[in-house]
Amino acid sequence: MAFKVGLLGLGTVGSGTAEILLNPTQRHPLLREIEIHRVGVRSAKPRSIPLPPEIITTDLESIVTDPAVDIVVEVIGGLEPARSLILKAIAQGKHVVTANKAVIARFGDEIFTAANQAGVYVLLEAAVAGGIPVIEPLKQSLCANRIEALMGIVNGTTNYILSRMQMEGSDFDAVLADAQKLGYAEADPTADVDGLDAADKIAILSSLAFGSRIKLPEVYCEGIRKITAADITYADRLGFVIKLLAIAKRDKTATTDLDRLQVRVHPTLLPKSHPLANVNGVFNAILIQGQPVGQVMFFGPGAGSGPTASAIVADILNIAAILKVGRDAVTHADGTPLLDPLLACSHQEYATIAPIEELSTRFYVRFLANDSPGVIGYLGTCFGEHNVSIESVVQIGLRDQLAEIVVITHDVREGDFRQALAEIATFEAISSIPSVLRVLSSEE
Ligand code: NDP
Ligand code: HSE
Repeated sequence: MAFKVGLLGLGTVGSGTAEILLNPTQRHPLLREIEIHRVGVRSAKPRSIPLPPEIITTDLESIVTDPAVDIVVEVIGGLEPARSLILKAIAQGKHVVTANKAVIARFGDEIFTAANQAGVYVLLEAAVAGGIPVIEPLKQSLCANRIEALMGIVNGTTNYILSRMQMEGSDFDAVLADAQKLGYAEADPTADVDGLDAADKIAILSSLAFGSRIKLPEVYCEGIRKITAADITYADRLGFVIKLLAIAKRDKTATTDLDRLQVRVHPTLLPKSHPLANVNGVFNAILIQGQPVGQVMFFGPGAGSGPTASAIVADILNIAAILKVGRDAVTHADGTPLLDPLLACSHQEYATIAPIEELSTRFYVRFLANDSPGVIGYLGTCFGEHNVSIESVVQIGLRDQLAEIVVITHDVREGDFRQALAEIATFEAISSIPSVLRVLSSEE
């Protein structure tokens, strides 16, 4: 029995997927039963993958409605027509495998509701952290745990840029331009450098970890454009590295809604001894804290043709394995096939997400001020009046005739910290506040 795949997209991920499916030797024996039935692309150009030309089409709708196709693999990217094609495939009773975090983070509700009604699987291992198995472990291997927190470096482009800024002492714009020249960053880097790609991914991971749907606009998101070489140097001197972290955790500041979550993406100062501090270059890593397992860390290539295809093909095999053992024999009373509850999406409620002002964290803040008596005293008094406790104050030296002062706070409420900062900004001795960054909380 062969399982027929309709592959939508033959770019970076689609080609990698086809290469694995066409070369099953020394891989799982079930691969021999997977056949690429049809392939959908945008343009009729020559392809380097040895596929019969007659199976390649620009009519993607004809693939998702083809009665012979069992599994639709969506790797075209973007929101449309990807979303409509996925929904159409589901309506035709086809299982779906996708790498499209943008579609899932925005339309997961619609897609999984449709999939559950149709009795089909939508699997997405490749959508978060490319080749790193993290979706399946969250759904299956760690399912006995109460997940308390997950934290990760889930965007390779920004990690590459920050790692190079750290190594070379260069500024953001120069490294971004070079990364674009080398093909590590997209011509339009917005989704990566502004944290949007990481926000899509942490929304998906939190939904799985905490068993509730996440409204993407409620995910706090701050990118890395404002990080300077100066901040990286000062962070280094103070024993930290700066990483773009995606964080999701149970919100311990909540007094009434104990299920409230924090879900956020922002640059973070991490102690050099932290397990994520040495994840450099394009690599991704995710740290999961569960009860009773403790901390588990996943590390590996977060993108690329082969790594991402590895995740896609694992999902195809998962579905083929279920089909092979005759899942269709077991149905609900209305005839809809029963889905494996560990693989299918079973939650429908939306999570309550804590507003960022209520976050309790440490801060790093850099001031440029007149080098005159009383400035540091004023900072201390103003922070103190807003309940902001200072961990350290360092006057680094002079920059453009102004004193450069770096303050690190203890864990403080973000709302209180912002109020103090707004007041400090009005003080005539303060010339500017070039950087405000979060420091990993002492509890994280
Ligand atoms: P590419 O741009 O390399 O490939 C896209 C493919 O889809 C191309 O074959 C293109 O056709 C086809 N395509 C795009 N739009 C249409 C359309 N409207 N109609 C028909 N065909 C279309 O993308 P990637 O392979 O890099 O990414 C695919 C997905 O995988 C995205 O969702 C991405 O976020 C995700 N992903 C990618 C990773 C990576 O490392 N690249 C890592 C993890 C996830 P044609 O060849 O004719 O241009
Ligand atoms: N743009 C993403 C990154 C690719 O830089 O990590 C994988 O999702």
